[in-house]
Amino acid sequence: MSITKKVLALGAVGLMAAGLAACSSEAEGSTEGGAVDCNVGISMPTRSLERWINDGEHLEKLLKDEGCTVDLQYADNKTNKQISQIQNQIAGGAKILVVAPIDGEVLSPVLSEAKKTQDAVVISYDRLINGTEDVDYYATFDNYRVGQLQGEFIEEQLGLADGEGPFNLEPFAGSPDDNNAKFFFSGAWDVLLPYVENGQLEVPSGKAPKSNDDWASIGIQGWASDKAQAEMDNRLTSFYTGDEKVDVVLSPNDSLAIGIEASLKSAGYTPGEDYPLITGQDADKANVKAILDDEQSMTVWKDTRQLGDTVRDMIMAIIAGDEVEVNDTETYDNGKKVVPSYLLEPQVVTKENVQEKLIDSGFIDASDVGL
Ligand code: GAL
Repeated sequence: MSITKKVLALGAVGLMAAGLAACSSEAEGSTEGGAVDCNVGISMPTRSLERWINDGEHLEKLLKDEGCTVDLQYADNKTNKQISQIQNQIAGGAKILVVAPIDGEVLSPVLSEAKKTQDAVVISYDRLINGTEDVDYYATFDNYRVGQLQGEFIEEQLGLADGEGPFNLEPFAGSPDDNNAKFFFSGAWDVLLPYVENGQLEVPSGKAPKSNDDWASIGIQGWASDKAQAEMDNRLTSFYTGDEKVDVVLSPNDSLAIGIEASLKSAGYTPGEDYPLITGQDADKANVKAILDDEQSMTVWKDTRQLGDTVRDMIMAIIAGDEVEVNDTETYDNGKKVVPSYLLEPQVVTKENVQEKLIDSGFIDASDVGL
């Protein structure tokens, strides 16, 4: 997982030059006052989660400010809809595609079409597109680190390194079709599995993957809050029948955490009293409010504004024919190639630093979380 600062190898520079040629051939008559001629299709997975709304709107604004033509689409978490939206973007002349895939495995044909017809440059956004040569760059947060921060938080809060325990843990994982989910789980499980194996962490439901590779067995399809809630309801009614209490829940993100918290509260767990530790990711407003109300212990914050800035910088470099800066050329093998990546650093947010990290930085407004 080492991140080495590197710039792009020569092969991809050729691609950028192709992108440049394609873009500048359109420039005639369309550039005024030095505006960059740049036609970008952005394909986001869903409007149902706050983070993707923020991501899309932020990137669209950054690119429009640079003079780009931008088409931003959301696919309602439907794979076929995402494919047809990308097809429309190609037909509409997009020379650069920024895609956060719903299902990382199925975009190969449409991206091959993008290469053939537009010679488009493809940037995988936040989630990796798998199984195709036709993805040029990947911009994301260090996904393994996200899970590691969750695991380390649990380790520290429970005093596991000092031998404390046993504690009852219920682990969850993300959507099996999302390449990020296995990285989140691996990062956390590399910290926690030794404590499961030595008995400091017990998993009454039995839903403890024996290795990182088994994570999908506890994955929640589509990152759906209601599915996480139903799964937690099942575990509570089936395995916590006597005096047993849940001490800690590994939740990979905020949408799952919201469902898990609803389940715990309806089963009678009271924040501030017998309430478990619960992890999360994304700093969605509802979860930040839950953190302030002692219903969630932490969230891993990914400042998605930085991700937008990174992708904007990549696109500006592509348009200018400059080298695209990446800082990881080892980690993200999509089955066909190792995709040159730029990884950003996620951060832990708890009740103590909500103000400093999220509000003072302008990521959310105090009034959105009742402050
Ligand atoms: C992941 C993403 C997370 C979370 C999740 C659900 O791919 O990295 O930040 O939002 O999807 O949408």
